[in-house]
Amino acid sequence: MDKLGKDPVSLAFGKFTYGVYVVGAAHGGRVNALTCAWAMRVSHRPPLVAVAVGKTRFSHDLIAEAGSFSVNVLAQDQLELARHFGLKSGRGVNKFTNIPYRIAKTGAPILEGVAAWLDCKLVGNYPAGDHTIFVGEVVDAWAGDAAPLRYNPRDYWG
Ligand SMILES: Cc1cc2nc3c(=O)[nH]c(=O)nc-3n(C[C@H](O)[C@H](O)[C@H](O)COP(=O)(O)O)c2cc1C
Repeated sequence: MDKLGKDPVSLAFGKFTYGVYVVGAAHGGRVNALTCAWAMRVSHRPPLVAVAVGKTRFSHDLIAEAGSFSVNVLAQDQLELARHFGLKSGRGVNKFTNIPYRIAKTGAPILEGVAAWLDCKLVGNYPAGDHTIFVGEVVDAWAGDAAPLRYNPRDYWG
């Protein structure tokens, strides 16, 4: 996801509405997460969720290797967390330093204070241009009362 261009395709995509999610994974002693807007539910039975992750993201290979991932649905008051996990890569830094979290059943990280979370087993990955669509089967989940954060590009890219 990038700053929107002024061409018709970018302008049309700019009318799509999204939530804001922090998608995490852990593998080989490394835990990481990235902010994702491109996430959606894709099946009732079994419950499946899909996230589109750029191939250049550090999280991309970590999710594939872990075979699992978490989807943290950010709450309205968690814009700073969306920026934290979305505006720098975990390739060279541990983004979880000073961020409270716990480990879910699959080993993926769950953040505190979120509107909801899903713990997912990776059941499919589908190449889609410069992204991969990771499909996860939900093995555990929780939802609280907080309203979810809605995506607004101006919150991140001026
Ligand atoms: C609000 C927001 C939404 C984003 N949505 C996506 C997304 O859906 N997929 C994606 O691959 N990157 C998305 N990004 C970009 C990644 O979060 C960003 O490149 C991140 O630094 C990657 O971290 P990593 O290298 O530690 O995996 C988004 C960033 C922001 C700020």
